[in-house]
Amino acid sequence: MGSACHQRRGYALLPGLEALIRRHGLDERLKLQGAFCLDNCQNGCSLKFKDRIFSGLNERNLTEIFEREILPLCQSL
Ligand code: FES
Repeated sequence: MGSACHQRRGYALLPGLEALIRRHGLDERLKLQGAFCLDNCQNGCSLKFKDRIFSGLNERNLTEIFEREILPLCQSL
């Protein structure tokens, strides 16, 4: 995690991400992995999945963004 994401409490998203992965039965197929800065600091906390960067993540919108944007991409895992 880069310092900008850390300052924006990106670490606080990890338990939520882990819970979402478990809730949707993806824990055998999807692995969380730390990364350095994604060069997207100006857009808020970011994560990368399948070469796509998701930005502006926080504890309030994580579930919505995960289920709307990331979950459909998991169908082919
Ligand atoms: S620190 Fe997260 S995108 Fe730069």
